[in-house]
Amino acid sequence: MPLQGKRIVITGGAGFIGSTLAARLCVDNQVVLFDNLARDTLQHTQLAQHPNVQLVRGDILDPAAVLGAVQGAQVVVHAAAIAGIDTVLKSPVRTMEVNMIGTANVLRACAQAKVSDRVVEFSTSEVFGSMAYRVSEDNHAVAGSAGEARWVYAVSKLAGEHLAHAYYREHGLPVVTLRPFNVYGPGQTGEGALQIFIRRALANEPISIYGDGTQIRAWCFVDDMVDALMLALEKPEAVGESFNVGNARAVTTVFGLAETVCRVLGSKSQIQFRDALSADIELRIPETGKAKALLGFSARVDLEEGIRRTAEWYRGRTL
Ligand SMILES: NC(=O)c1ccc[n+]([C@@H]2O[C@H](COP(=O)([O-])OP(=O)(O)OC[C@H]3O[C@@H](n4cnc5c(N)ncnc54)[C@H](O)[C@@H]3O)[C@@H](O)[C@H]2O)c1
Repeated sequence: MPLQGKRIVITGGAGFIGSTLAARLCVDNQVVLFDNLARDTLQHTQLAQHPNVQLVRGDILDPAAVLGAVQGAQVVVHAAAIAGIDTVLKSPVRTMEVNMIGTANVLRACAQAKVSDRVVEFSTSEVFGSMAYRVSEDNHAVAGSAGEARWVYAVSKLAGEHLAHAYYREHGLPVVTLRPFNVYGPGQTGEGALQIFIRRALANEPISIYGDGTQIRAWCFVDDMVDALMLALEKPEAVGESFNVGNARAVTTVFGLAETVCRVLGSKSQIQFRDALSADIELRIPETGKAKALLGFSARVDLEEGIRRTAEWYRGRTL
């Protein structure tokens, strides 16, 4: 059933994925964006002026503010998080607190407010660790060694995912978890290799690769991510499940990615190598059969088209 006439709260709604989702949902629904504006993609869009969109500035670490925001909502999408490896390395304590305690606040508020239709929350492909070839949802999650800052993010997200499913089992909260695999596209204003490569390539400035560039990733265009989100909100089969969301065909090494960006955009950027800053993911490609079988989801945008469409957005914008 298409979503219509609902009150939908998106935590992290001013961010990259949240604001892209909101633009689709606000056509037929009332959308509340709950965000502390630590990042702000919204300022680069007209979305906040849409009559069906309301921005509430608040922090998910404030339980009363979260409860106030979700009261009366039938649908909650919990996208607020500390994300992006640079921020995680700089602020591991805040990462753990926002992603675990913040998620606990959102889930408790949803249960108290009796959110009836759907609570979608975001985990991450990082839970599969550094070697993840065609990983499916029932593969073991890898916790990574304690003390290595990179794994703080995966552990914090995995804790949120477990808590979400505990709320489903114990309180019947209609929870769905999505595990995105390297999402990119227009509106990405935080971190992410592909947006950095595209912005450097458009300016013909050097592109830095951390490590030797052999790391392998699958790149998912944000419109595909939002397609998966819409299906997770609409399909009853989604409830109580976790889904990988990614494009297993848009696979390249990080060096191949830099070369592809330069070729597609006709850039003269030089590619430079720098020492790796942290533990890295060597290989990450999703198995997406579950999302296809239960949600009817398949990624559609190939890498070169995605790079062109993303570059259009950055061209002429000062971020
Ligand atoms: N983009 C990806 O490739 C990717 C991959 C895996 C998981 N995810 C997850 O998807 C979700 C959305 O990611 P995104 O790429 O849109 O990130 P983003 O950083 O653009 O958006 C996150 C939003 O959360 C807000 N936020 C942060 N801390 C907050 C707090 N304490 N209270 C309220 N708001 C707060 C930020 O201001 C920001 O607008 C996140 O949960 C992220 O962990 C994203």
